[in-house]
Amino acid sequence: MSYLLAPSILSADMSHLGDAVIMLDKSQADWVHVDVMDGVFVPNLTFGFPIIKAIRPLTTKLFDVHLMMVQPERYIKEFKKAGADILTVQYEACTHLHRTIQEIKNAGMQAGVAINPHTPAIMLQDALQDLDLVLVMSVNPGFGGQSFIPQSLLKIRSIKKMMAACGSHAVIEVDGGVNRDNLVQIVEAGADVIVAGNAIFSTSRPIDTIAELKAMK
Ligand code: DX5
Ligand code: ZN
Repeated sequence: MSYLLAPSILSADMSHLGDAVIMLDKSQADWVHVDVMDGVFVPNLTFGFPIIKAIRPLTTKLFDVHLMMVQPERYIKEFKKAGADILTVQYEACTHLHRTIQEIKNAGMQAGVAINPHTPAIMLQDALQDLDLVLVMSVNPGFGGQSFIPQSLLKIRSIKKMMAACGSHAVIEVDGGVNRDNLVQIVEAGADVIVAGNAIFSTSRPIDTIAELKAMK
């Protein structure tokens, strides 16, 4: 079983955020998942540009920035400057999704689109060929530590089929409620990248947990 692991620093100890990123740099984690919340699209607020800029030099791992915010197109260049490598916007927050995807790519980042649990996979049909990443939200965005919504497995499978049909090379990332009990079936359903927050940072030795999750078969 092969997949990329993107620990979400949303669940890290915020009083030692820099140490958490340094730990991830030394760990077997593949990417660093950064959840940006605006208090409007979701009922929570998290990281802004100064924080992302401050932690960016602490690792060479790819910064996978997930924007849970309205009007994300207003800040594309700022996120590039802050150090984002992949920029993922929420489908539900974008009126002109095609334009936003092109602007992310023109800014020199990989472009991702996330869909909420209630958004049908088919809504991505006409965007798939342009995307580098599709993010399947397997919880309602806003908080770490929620339970995985089982119907997400069907959605991962349908997106995989839609991608094969149109020749899309996007990767499928799954975000929310992933743990050691459901990880294998999520990867078997077609996930290429797994986000995990609580499952990693609630343990006493996150670096060992990452190694264990990466070794799962
Ligand atoms: C939820 C965020 C997730 C969150 C996942 O809105 O997008 O990335 O950090 O946390 P866990 O793995 O704890 O569900
Ligand atoms: Zn996320």
